[in-house]
Order: sequence, then C-alpha cells, then structure tokens
Amino acid sequence: MKNHELPRLDKHIKLHNYLLKYCRLSNGEIWTDKQSGHKIGCLDAAEPKDIKKLMARKKASLAVHDPPYNLVMFQIHEVKSFIDWCRKWMHNTNTALAENSSLYIWLGADQNNGFQPLPDFMIMMRDFPFTTRSFITMRNQRGYGTQNNWMAVRQELLYYTKGKHVFNINAEYTDIPKILRGYYKEVNGKVTENLERSKSENIRAGNVWVDIQQVFYRMEENVNGCYAQKPLKSAERIIRASSNENDIVIDFFCHSGSTLMASELNKRKCYTIDSDPLYCEIAIRRLEHYRKTGETGWQNSNPFEKEILKDKKLQRIINY
Ligand SMILES: C[S@@+](CC[C@H](N)C(=O)[O-])C[C@H]1O[C@@H](n2cnc3c(N)ncnc32)[C@H](O)[C@@H]1O
Repeated sequence: MKNHELPRLDKHIKLHNYLLKYCRLSNGEIWTDKQSGHKIGCLDAAEPKDIKKLMARKKASLAVHDPPYNLVMFQIHEVKSFIDWCRKWMHNTNTALAENSSLYIWLGADQNNGFQPLPDFMIMMRDFPFTTRSFITMRNQRGYGTQNNWMAVRQELLYYTKGKHVFNINAEYTDIPKILRGYYKEVNGKVTENLERSKSENIRAGNVWVDIQQVFYRMEENVNGCYAQKPLKSAERIIRASSNENDIVIDFFCHSGSTLMASELNKRKCYTIDSDPLYCEIAIRRLEHYRKTGETGWQNSNPFEKEILKDKKLQRIINY
C-alpha cells in the first residue's frame, strides 16, 4: 500500500467521514503531549470558552494563524460575515497572547473580487491593540491566471506585535548567497561596500520570501489528504525570529500541523486547535511519526496507512 496518496479530504466527504472513527479527539477535547508539552484541541477558534480551556491561564508569546480564507465555507455570505467571524477569533487571540508578543496571519486577496478579504481584514485589525510591523509576501512556484494577467504567485502574511516583542535578527538569513555589489557607504572615514559591512555571506529574508519551496507530493514534509499545508520552512522562520526556546506558540487553524512541527523542531511549545477532529488526528500522527522516524511528513505514504492495510471498506472507499 506504499506510494499511495490520500485524496483531498475536503473534497472526498465520504472518506473524510469514514476516517472520523479513527480519530482520538471529539469536539471539545484536548490532547496533551507528555514529551514536549504541546496541546492539540478539537476546538473552535471563534469560541471564547474553547480558547480559555486551551490556554488554561497560560499566555503565548507568538500566534501564527492561517484561517480558511477561500470563502468556500462562506459561500452564501459576503466578506462582512467573514470579517465578523475573524473579529471573534482575533478577540480570542488577543486574550491568549502575552503583553509582549507577536502575531502573524496568512490571508489571501482575491484579485478577481475587490482583493477581498485582505483590505477588509487589515481595517478590522485597527480595532485591536496591535502595532503593524510588516506585510510579507511569500512567492509560490505554481501560479494561476497567466493568459491575460500577471501570474498570481504570492501569498500574503501580515505581521503585528504587542508591547516589547522578540525579534531574533540572526534567524532571518536565507540560504541565498549575496551576489550584488554596491551601496558604498563611509564608515569611520573609509568607503566600504555592502559585502564588507555585512554580518553574513547570505541575504536577509526581508519582507519578500523567494526561497521557500511550496509543499508538493515529492517532498518529505508532504501530508497526503491535506489541501492547505504551509511549508515548514516558513513556519520555522517565523518561530525562530519571533519567539524564544520554551515559549508558547499558538495556532488556531492547525490542519496539517505545520506550526506544531516547527515548534517541535525549534523547542517551543505549541498550543494548536482545529474544529475538525480529522485534522487534529493528522497533526498528532504527524508529530508521532516524526518522533518515530525523523520524517516530517509522508512523502510515500499517508497518516492512515496502517488502517488502510487492514480495513477493506476503507480500501473500497479510496478505490485502492
Ligand atoms: C488553511 S487551513 C490551515 C493550514 C495550516 N497552516 C497548515 O499548514 O497545515 C485552515 C484550517 O482551519 C480549520 N478551521 C476552520 N474553521 C475553524 C474554526 N472555527 N476553529 C478552528 N479551526 C477551524 C479547518 O478545518 C482547516 O484545517
């Protein structure tokens, strides 16, 4: 059964619902990791009592959120309903974050529809006590809309802070060597070039990230069945720059567990939730799989490989 992919679990509803019987968590439950202190909850980001339960009086130093923004789940609503919903989980985020903390939010802009919801979200954020810090763009390799438009290859990431935030500047260098020369500047009476002045041979990440590979099925970190997985490298960059070891990092939209994995790899504690028990289970399994094999995903398999081998009905549903 190796080398088999799971279909997208948001598209294959029958499979999604069948797999629920293999999930450890039901709505309202939290799994606590004994080894590193992570928590994974089957909870609702917009529900204050759920977040209170997750945090149990602790405060996080960093939040990394990637809400569903394709508006599919808001099909019949307009952007206003989406923003009203965002306001709820943002309120919960504000409560869960410490006085001195950082917040990153991945959010798209629909170029065919008023660039929504990005500008609406940015305006809504002005009602919260956060300072705007940066607007980061990550470049995708694959794009769309190439026939009579610029190919759409960007993902937008908003960066806010509260109080005296952490920023570890050394975490922020890319693997890209510096090649451009120039920018002469006088330092202590001597004219120097930028390469002489720099601390690293490589370029800093800046607010345009072109060095991060989009996740695809040939990569070790790929989690079959998931449809919105963010690259571990992006999660690690955020976590290393904006938190310290042993800090609590929250992510209210866990899905494949990228923030969880990046926290594990960088010795942070991750408190993460998903309203869907199936993604909670996938994230728990991803962590367990990493600890057992050292692999960050399932390039040649999937999180339910064992069950698929044994369960004939499951094999029929997937069509193996
Ligand atoms: C865009 S995905 C997050 C992707 C994630 N960053 C990753 O790298 O895998 C959004 C996730 O939010 C979850 N979700 C949707 N509504 C939610 C809610 N009200 N509370 C918690 N999770 C929710 C969905 O089930 C989905 O798994």
